[in-house]
Amino acid sequence: MHAVVLVGGFGTRLRPLTNDVPKPMLPIGNRPMIVRLAERLAAGGVTDIVLALGFRPDTFRAAFPGDRVGDVRMHYAVEPEPLDTAGAIAFAARHAGIDSTFVVANGDVVTGLDIAELVDAHRTLGTDATIHLTPVDDPSAYGVVETTEGGIVARFIEKPAPGDTDSRLINGGTYVFEPGVLDLIKPGQRVSVERETFPALVADQRLAGYPTNDRWIDTGRPDTYLEANLDHADTPDAIHPGANVAENARIERSIIGDGARIDGEVTRSVILSGASVAAGARVTDSLVWGHVTAGATLDHCVIGQDAEVPAGNHQHLRLPEPA
Ligand code: GDD
Ligand code: MG
Repeated sequence: MHAVVLVGGFGTRLRPLTNDVPKPMLPIGNRPMIVRLAERLAAGGVTDIVLALGFRPDTFRAAFPGDRVGDVRMHYAVEPEPLDTAGAIAFAARHAGIDSTFVVANGDVVTGLDIAELVDAHRTLGTDATIHLTPVDDPSAYGVVETTEGGIVARFIEKPAPGDTDSRLINGGTYVFEPGVLDLIKPGQRVSVERETFPALVADQRLAGYPTNDRWIDTGRPDTYLEANLDHADTPDAIHPGANVAENARIERSIIGDGARIDGEVTRSVILSGASVAAGARVTDSLVWGHVTAGATLDHCVIGQDAEVPAGNHQHLRLPEPA
């Protein structure tokens, strides 16, 4: 079975971490997000992944020598220009010649969802497409779904305004598609799966939803990217074997990357590969890919690759400022 994985976005909300590195290549618990996703897709029966690429396709190719992740073959569909979600799915599916039931996944979602279970549910429901649903408290940043008792989607509202809907079930960003859905998407045009293709399927009662209560995080914002990482704190993945941790460093519920050097204090934070926290520096609830010098205290900060944080108290600092 094929899966199309959407990885063409610019990851703007995670800048400066995503200035040069696409969001799905950033690590979760010290392994690239896309690798963890590929493994979960493989466990659900996926043999071939087609990456729907736009921004920095080179980074992905370089990361997969032999174009494989374990037993999964990787394919690269590079859009000439961003085609939006449906445009990208159709471009990638045509590029790879997909002609049977396939999976689609947003590249920035971390979840425990069992892909094989979703595919089974899709076959039982017998619709053209089935989307994974997950409950959230505040659905305003997502696609919200209203379903009927039989699981058919009655309404799909992308990024609803307050009062638009009472539903708290959202589009979890993993789908199963019949290839016929591609006929709804005109080649070479910008088309949104959330704003155009799903509503068109809803009108014909050909879209189903499959809700689960699995752990689910969209890693698109600094706080959610941090949260997804901290799921791996206190596991063997937390401190990379190539990290350099001084004897009197203090690390609490954090992720430390390959080649990172820790002499100071790190709490509920991600220190990416090659970054450093000097003795006498303190980092809390932050994402750091740069160098935190002695006397610096960071709270809820995002520090880009190679940026230097001077001494002083910093809250909600982004360094360098995103362009
Ligand atoms: N190839 C390609 N081309 N990929 C794209 C493009 C494009 O033009 N635009 C977006 N993507 C990719 C992004 O890289 C990301 O993996 C995925 O599509 C979704 O884009 P986001 O920018 O992360 O969307 P979102 O988080 O605001 O909303 C989406 O995800 C939610 C769940 O996490 C929607 O699908 C919502 O309905 C959903 O609830
Ligand atoms: Mg997202």
